[in-house]
Amino acid sequence: MKRIKIKHVLSSDGKELIGQRITVKGWVRAFRSNRFIQINDGSCLANIQAVIDFEKYDGDIIKQITTAAAVSVSGLLIASIGSEQSLELQVEEIEILGAAHPDDVQKTILQPKKHSLELLREQAHLRFRTNTFSAVFRIRHAVAYAIHHYFHSNGFFYLHTPIITGSDAEGAGEMFRVSTLDPKSPPLNEAGEVDYKQDFFGKPVNLTVSGQLEAELAALALGQVYTFGPTFRAENSNTSRHLAEFWMIEPEVAFNDLTDNMDLTEDFLKYLCSFVVENCKEDLSFLNLREQQEQSQKPLNERNELSLVERLTFVIENPFKRLTYSEAIEVLLNSNHHKKKKFQYPIAWGIDLQSEHERYLVEKEFKCPVILSNYPAEIKAFYMRQNDDNKTVAAMDVLFPGIGEIVGGSQREERYDVLLEKCKAFKIPEEELWWYLQTRKLGTVPHAGFGLGFERMIMFVTGMTNIRDVIPFPRTPLNASF
Ligand code: 4AD
Ligand code: MG
Repeated sequence: MKRIKIKHVLSSDGKELIGQRITVKGWVRAFRSNRFIQINDGSCLANIQAVIDFEKYDGDIIKQITTAAAVSVSGLLIASIGSEQSLELQVEEIEILGAAHPDDVQKTILQPKKHSLELLREQAHLRFRTNTFSAVFRIRHAVAYAIHHYFHSNGFFYLHTPIITGSDAEGAGEMFRVSTLDPKSPPLNEAGEVDYKQDFFGKPVNLTVSGQLEAELAALALGQVYTFGPTFRAENSNTSRHLAEFWMIEPEVAFNDLTDNMDLTEDFLKYLCSFVVENCKEDLSFLNLREQQEQSQKPLNERNELSLVERLTFVIENPFKRLTYSEAIEVLLNSNHHKKKKFQYPIAWGIDLQSEHERYLVEKEFKCPVILSNYPAEIKAFYMRQNDDNKTVAAMDVLFPGIGEIVGGSQREERYDVLLEKCKAFKIPEEELWWYLQTRKLGTVPHAGFGLGFERMIMFVTGMTNIRDVIPFPRTPLNASF
């Protein structure tokens, strides 16, 4: 018989299956009283309950119905008299597709008890089978889908930018080299340096830190494009918000200025939050409850003021606070927090804001998402448009509660001469970016874009507090398991 997914059986459409023989396949989550089998197939959070009359079956089969075993079950679907579920399956046929010996299960996180997120990370190959991670990864999928849906419906084109590149778009020099040279004895040039002319691409290349520069080229023809791909940064930051391999969404729009860019970001982030609220109800309420349970273990002053669902609703319903970097510095300098010397890092115009400063603005001062704009030129990338004050650039960062920076973007420098000067000041050789510079001489226009860190967004919509728990297999310093 054809397998039916548990999500369908348990949905309102599944009601018409009552009284019919159906087959479900999945993994046993629990087997109670030698009678009630909880089966999950990943299509949704809920399990289906199959009821087996063990006296009718061979003892060997019953013994193999253990937590984590894969089974195929056929039987009659009936309305349940139990209070915990509305439907149940009366087992007529059961096949063990893949046994899971209790001794083996005992060694893993599949044994049914509460495990720490750290332990689950060590067994990332199995954590998909837990309620928390299945919920997180179904939501991750939903957000990816929503991103494509948003841009497609707004007339953007999805652009695939290269993963291997010769340029350092962000100028931060945190790149992973890609090479086929023998690391033990690479060929050397006359100066005694590694001779990359003999490497695969005939020059040094690396994994991309951003698809932006290429996206700009396409935006200057297709009008509006976006990228959505993996991004690599060899920054040695072992924090709960950094990955060495993460996914980034980078829209780029011709004719947009900084204000248009902020409007687009805000509309986009609100759309993603409402998509999750509307389409991921079961997983979201599970994660909401999970967070509430975790919070109840914490001291009162460390608890979130709003629940996960309330935070999403708040973002959807309230305008983001917009202010300039200079205004933010004033706010910080005038804060009681600063006067009482509670900030660890100094505050002065020109500093790169630390995460304690960003979080103060979002969580204490404004209590809503914040868009900061017009940062000092020195602390931002070379491609950002110089403002008339000659001190600041048309940059913007979006700061979210509990996350800090979730989006970074800017209006781009479209003026050839100014851009060339910027390249010189940032010591970027003209030969490296001749193609980028040339677009500024061939019908250049104002344009703007931004980058959303996909995993940081997933943290926000799931309430997970460590970025390692929202990507299937995290890559961080000294860790590339699985
Ligand atoms: O602010 P960033 O570095 O901006 C850019 O890369 C621009 N090229 C974007 C653009 O204008 N097209 O990175 C953008 C976002 C950050 O705000 C953050 O959410 C995320 O990417 N991000 C990271 N996420 C996880 N791990 C890391 N190491 C990250 N670095 C940046
Ligand atoms: Mg940034």
